[in-house]
Amino acid sequence: MTRRMMIAGNWKMNGLEASLDFFSHNDLTRDLPGMDRVICPPATLLRAAHHAASRCGIDVGGQDCHGQESGAHTGDISAEMVADCGARYVIVGHSERRANHAESSAMVKDKAQAALRAGLTPILCVGETQGERESGQAESVVGRQLADSWPQDAADTDLVIAYEPVWAIGTGLTASLDDIAAMHGFIRAQRPGGADLRILYGGSVKPGNAADILSLSDVDGALIGGASLTAESFAAIVDSAPD
Ligand code: PGA
Repeated sequence: MTRRMMIAGNWKMNGLEASLDFFSHNDLTRDLPGMDRVICPPATLLRAAHHAASRCGIDVGGQDCHGQESGAHTGDISAEMVADCGARYVIVGHSERRANHAESSAMVKDKAQAALRAGLTPILCVGETQGERESGQAESVVGRQLADSWPQDAADTDLVIAYEPVWAIGTGLTASLDDIAAMHGFIRAQRPGGADLRILYGGSVKPGNAADILSLSDVDGALIGGASLTAESFAAIVDSAPD
């Protein structure tokens, strides 16, 4: 089985209605049947973004979901609600949520299971901090996150993994190509069906470094924050992906 390339943008807490102009940009309106392009806008824009994005063959995803289907959880959004807006994907376990909202891997596992229950593909994020890398624990930390966050009985084709070293997110620092290749290989080796598992790299991916990162054989795409906020840079990253 060949793994489809995926270029996913995570807008984080950025975007108002006017931001939907993104999807009218000429560089994005080309049909690219060989790859999945995904934008994860804030929840407030999800439904409108779905309508705008579908005209250029782009899918949308949520940035988070609750583990429960419904209930007394003020301010939270269920996976079913994300799906109801037309999303096909949802990011779970982003390091900003793990850090800022104290999300444990057990909670991330619940969210990933909720996503599957709602018919969404979870984009499950893992990654080590700078201190963990410097003390030689990067693989053990990522391996534990992967094992503890993996939804029960999910096959390797049911979800997408995003490896995002915490120290590379929003800092302009990227892991070396050797370190990315090694960690992606490590993640693939953790799973029985690892050959079919799609693994994205994330952390300061931009037009200038995307081609080298995306050419690595175990890298199946990218999860992009800052550089996904303009159509020009998102499209430039899409264009730098190998055919
Ligand atoms: P960045 O963010 O590209 O701005 O580093 C990546 C992410 O957090 O997914």
